[in-house]
Amino acid sequence: MRGFQGKTLGTPIGRYRLLQKNSPSSLLLDFGRAGGFVRGFLFNRRFIHLATQYKVGIVGATGAVGHELIRLFTDRRFPLSSLRLFASARSTGREIQVGGFTGTVEEAKPEVFDDLDVAVFSAGAGISRALAGEAVRRGCVVIDNSSAFRMDNAVPLVIPEINGEALASHKGIVANPNCSTAITLMGLCPLHREFGLRRFYAATYQAVSGTGAAAIRELEAQVKAHVEGGASECSVYPHPIAFNLLPHVDSFLDDGYTKEEMKMLNESRKILGLPDLRVSTTCVRVPVIRAHSLAVFAEFDRPVDVERARAAIGKFPGVEVVDEPANNRYPMPLDYAGKEKCGVGRIRRDAASENGLAIWIVGDQLWKGAALNAVQIAEELAASGHLRVPAGV
Ligand SMILES: NC(=O)c1ccc[n+]([C@@H]2O[C@H](COP(=O)([O-])OP(=O)(O)OC[C@H]3O[C@@H](n4cnc5c(N)ncnc54)[C@H](OP(=O)(O)O)[C@@H]3O)[C@@H](O)[C@H]2O)c1
Repeated sequence: MRGFQGKTLGTPIGRYRLLQKNSPSSLLLDFGRAGGFVRGFLFNRRFIHLATQYKVGIVGATGAVGHELIRLFTDRRFPLSSLRLFASARSTGREIQVGGFTGTVEEAKPEVFDDLDVAVFSAGAGISRALAGEAVRRGCVVIDNSSAFRMDNAVPLVIPEINGEALASHKGIVANPNCSTAITLMGLCPLHREFGLRRFYAATYQAVSGTGAAAIRELEAQVKAHVEGGASECSVYPHPIAFNLLPHVDSFLDDGYTKEEMKMLNESRKILGLPDLRVSTTCVRVPVIRAHSLAVFAEFDRPVDVERARAAIGKFPGVEVVDEPANNRYPMPLDYAGKEKCGVGRIRRDAASENGLAIWIVGDQLWKGAALNAVQIAEELAASGHLRVPAGV
């Protein structure tokens, strides 16, 4: 797409003047109609006239994900008529600046949703349970980043590149998947479509920003204390995270797995539409600021081929192959912080399984695992005319 800016393309349905590529599925352009051009977005080959603008709210705007939501809604030129920021009463009146946007935080209360078209919730499952239903009753579509509604049969759980068609059936709430699951499936879905996924094992290497803004501060403080010879203080995690690994993400269940590990199983089944998929994961918190990594061992129904696997991943939107072991090239978290695409490398036959592949996946969990996926959902809903609470809900 390089060098396309300003070019005019003639198509059977009209003329387009291309202005900017926002993402693999989103272009800003002028569409030629009789009497001139109108400006809008082309999302997945659908045109949204910019005259349709939306009143958007972010619940949890002071948090790690909230910050990225502000950045992405403004940078990707989502058709905003207003962007309002909400958090707890503690943050009321706080001014937040992200890029060229400045806004003042308001307390998240039921009545604020009366005047919003869509709200992205990023304030934890308790707040989502307390306020999402209220928002929908007041005519506001909710895109929820928490785990509150993900496994609710009436709520679509969506990664637009994988199951965007599920958005059409929403009843006011759309759930955003768990961050590790979203990044894993971006690498696995193209392989599933090529070879038929039967089961996978994964070990995660999860960045501290996955726990939120306080965990970033804890890692930074512990590194500083270590360098200066002071004592490490732990408040977010039960043990020091600096220079350490914690095989413990979210709380433990009776069977020995953690809730985070079970999200990988349950959410993968729902998103891929594979109720019998078998998944076993060990989730590990690592002293990385941003971007999750995963070692995945996947077994398929049909015989696998490494070159076909590379080709399938390479042409899947939102993912890229970085796999040149001879040149020490593989995806790493430092390269994927603030990047839209997830990276897949170390693609090889699994030596322990018949139709198996071993892969390494990295992605920015604050983006594809949370804020970017949520904004893409809002874009898709707007493009398909579904950014409204359906009648009768
Ligand atoms: N971090 C990630 O990578 C990631 C990925 C996927 C999903 N998520 C999910 O996204 C959500 C937010 O995560 P985060 O990492 O951004 O956490 P965070 O940095 O700790 O931010 C939490 C946000 O929630 C707000 N909040 C807390 N109590 C509230 C209340 N009573 N009413 C309204 N707002 C309240 C906080 O506002 P105050 O500043 O006023 O306390 C803050 O804005 C969680 O549900 C998390 O599971 C996070």
